[in-house]
Amino acid sequence: MPANQYEARLRSEELRSAINYHNRKYYEEDSPEIADAEYDELMRELRAIERDYPELITPDSPTQKVGAAPLATFDVVDHREPMLSLGNVFNEDDLRAWYRRAAERYDSEHFPLVSEPKIDGLAMALVYEQGKFVQGATRGDGRHGENVTANLRTISSIPHLLKGRYPARFEVRGEVYMTKSGFEAMNAAIGEENEAREAAGRKPLSLYANPRNAAAGSVRQKDPSVTAGRPLAMFMYQLGWCEGTHPDTQWEILAWLSDMGFTVNPEIRQHDTLDSAAERINWWGNQRERLDYDIDGAVLKMDDAAAWADMGVVGREPRWAIAFKFPPQQRTTKLRQIAVNVGRTGSLNPFAVLEPVVVGGATVSMATLHNEGDIHRKDIREGDTVVVQRAGEVIPQVVAPVVSLRDGTERIFEMPAECPSCHTPVVRDPDAAAVYCPNAACPAQQIRLLEHFGSRGAMDIEGLGEKTAYTLFQRGLVGNIADVYDLTAAKLQGADEFTTKKGVLSKTGENLLAGIEKSKQRPLTNVLFGLGIRHVGFETAHLLAAHFGSLAAILAAPAESLQEVEGIGPVVGESIVAWAHRPENRSIVERLIAAGVDPHETPRPTAPAEGLLAGLTLVVTGTLSSMSRTEAEERIRSLGGKVGSSVSKSTTALVIGENAGTKATKAQQLGIRTIDESAFLRLLEKGPAEID
Ligand code: IVH
Repeated sequence: MPANQYEARLRSEELRSAINYHNRKYYEEDSPEIADAEYDELMRELRAIERDYPELITPDSPTQKVGAAPLATFDVVDHREPMLSLGNVFNEDDLRAWYRRAAERYDSEHFPLVSEPKIDGLAMALVYEQGKFVQGATRGDGRHGENVTANLRTISSIPHLLKGRYPARFEVRGEVYMTKSGFEAMNAAIGEENEAREAAGRKPLSLYANPRNAAAGSVRQKDPSVTAGRPLAMFMYQLGWCEGTHPDTQWEILAWLSDMGFTVNPEIRQHDTLDSAAERINWWGNQRERLDYDIDGAVLKMDDAAAWADMGVVGREPRWAIAFKFPPQQRTTKLRQIAVNVGRTGSLNPFAVLEPVVVGGATVSMATLHNEGDIHRKDIREGDTVVVQRAGEVIPQVVAPVVSLRDGTERIFEMPAECPSCHTPVVRDPDAAAVYCPNAACPAQQIRLLEHFGSRGAMDIEGLGEKTAYTLFQRGLVGNIADVYDLTAAKLQGADEFTTKKGVLSKTGENLLAGIEKSKQRPLTNVLFGLGIRHVGFETAHLLAAHFGSLAAILAAPAESLQEVEGIGPVVGESIVAWAHRPENRSIVERLIAAGVDPHETPRPTAPAEGLLAGLTLVVTGTLSSMSRTEAEERIRSLGGKVGSSVSKSTTALVIGENAGTKATKAQQLGIRTIDESAFLRLLEKGPAEID
C-alpha cells in the first residue's frame, strides 16, 4: 500500500494506464499479454487505493466501467439496461460474508440460491421480437456493445425462432464459449499451417492461448462464414429487459428459457441453504477439468429475482449475485531457457526452464514442451514471455508465446547436435520426427532406465526411485539393470547413502536389497516392460507376454511373428528385434535369469465370453483411491474384459479416477460413457447391469 497520498496518486495513475492498456489488448485485439488473474490483481490494487483515497477516483478510471469501448468496425448497440459484472470471492469465508450482507438487506436470515458454472467466454445480449432473433451484441463497456448479430446467427445453440410461449419483446443474456476439444483442434490446425509456413520461410500465425481468446476472436470476425466454421456454443443464464410477464425466480426463468429453445447449462442447481450451494461449488471445482468448456468459477444468484431491483448494485456489481473464483490455471512468465534431457530409450526431450510463477496454487519453474516439432509449430522461442498452464495434477505445459512482447532478443530453439550427457552425435529418427542419442551406454539413459526398471508396472522395486538410481550409478555400483541383482550388503556399505553412522547397512539399504529380492518374482509382462525396449509400453508387453508365454520366445521371434499378435505393428516388431540382436542386451537378459529373475505369466482367461465383463472394453484414467491403475486393469482382464490404452469408438466406458486428463475430454467428444470409481467397483462386483 502506498505510504501517502502522493505515492497513491502515482501508483493509481500507473495502474490505470496499465489496466487500460491490457483492456485494449483483451477486448479489442483479442491478444492479452497477461493472464486474467494478473489483470484481476492490478484491478484489486487499484480498487484498494481508491477505497483509501476516494479523492483520487477519476470518472474514466477502469474501476468505473466494464471492459473497453467497442471497436468501430461493428455498429454500436446501446444496451437498454447496463450489462453488469459480478463481485468476486476466492474463499468460503468471504462467500459467507457476502451471504450475510445480502441476507441482512433482504431482511431474512436465509434466502434460496441458484448455483451456475461461471463460463469463461464472452457475455452477449440477444434481443428477440415476436419469437425471432433480431439482435445480438457484445458487452462492450457495459452500456454500449458491438452488433455481432450476423456472426451469432451462425452459432447453432442460438435459436433463430423460439418455441412455446414467449414475451413479445425481450432480451436474454448468456455466454458464448468455445469447446476445449474444438479449441485444441483449431490450434492444432494453426500449428500445421505454421509448419508449412516455416518450410516456406513465411511468418508463423499466432496460436490462441485459450478457448476464451479463440471465442473472442471468432465472434468478432468480419466475415460470418469464418465464425460459422468455429466450434462455438452459448449457455443462457439471465433474462434482461422483458416486455411481457415472466416468472419471478431465477430457477423458473432458466427453465422457461430452456422451454423456449435456449441452451441452459444442465448442471445448474437450486439450493435452500448456503451450505448446499458451497458444496456444489466444491463439486464444480473438482469437475472443471472433465468438462469440455472452461469455467473460471461458480456463480451464486439469489433465487428471488423479484427482489433483485431492491437489492441494488454497488459500483458495477449487483448485491444479489456473487462469483466464486477458482485458482487460475494459466499465467504468463519468462521462458529463460529450453533445456534438453535424455530419456531411457535415448530420446532427447526438450523442456522449459521458467521464471518461477504460481499457477493453480503451485510454483512452476519447469514445464513440458513435448518435442522439437511442437516448439516450432507453436513458435516458442527462448526468452519469450509465455503462457503457462497447469490443470490439476497434470504436468505444467507451455501453451503459447506472447508474440507482441518480443523485443528481438529471443532465440529460435535448435536441438543439440550432441547428446548433452555423453556427447555422442545424435541421430534423427525420420518417422517419429524425434532425436536420439544412439549410445546405449550413455549415463543419462542408464540412470533413466534403472529408474524405470524399478518402477511400478515394471520390477516394482521399493526404494529404487529417481534418487537411488542416480546414486547407484554415480557411485559405480550399478552400470546396467542386470547389475542390480549383483548388489550385496557389502557393496552398498561402501556408499554413505546406504550406511549408518556406525558403518552398518542402513534401513534404506536393507529395504533396497529386500525389494530387489522380491522383484525376482515379477510376471513376464513386468519384466518385458522393465527392459525399456523402445515402443514397448505396459500394454504391448502384456499382449506379447500373453501370446508367447516366455521371454526367450519373445526375444527369439522374428518381426513377422511378433506382428501376428493383435495390436502389435511393424514399428514395435522391428524395435524388439533390433533390441534382441544387440549382444549387450542378450547378456543382460542372461544375467537376469541367472540371478533368479523368473519371468512367468499367470494364465489369464482367454475365453472372455465367460467373464462378468465379457465383451466390454474399458479404459482407465486418473488415480483411483482403492487400487492402482495396473491393478484395476488386471481385474478387468481377469473378469474377461478388454483394456484399451486410449479412448476410441470401440471403448465401452472410460473409468475416471482423480485428476483425469485429456482422455475424459476425448470420451465426451466421442460420446463414450464415463464412470467414476464407485460405479467401477460395482461393475467389478456385479457386472454391467449394475451400472446401467
Ligand atoms: S451473471 C449481473 N452468470 O462472468 C449478472 N455471469 O464476471 C452478470 N459469466 O459478465 C452476469 N457465467 O461474462 C452470470 N452463470 C453466469 C456466468 C456469468 C459466466 C460471466 C459474464 C459476466 C462475468 C462477470
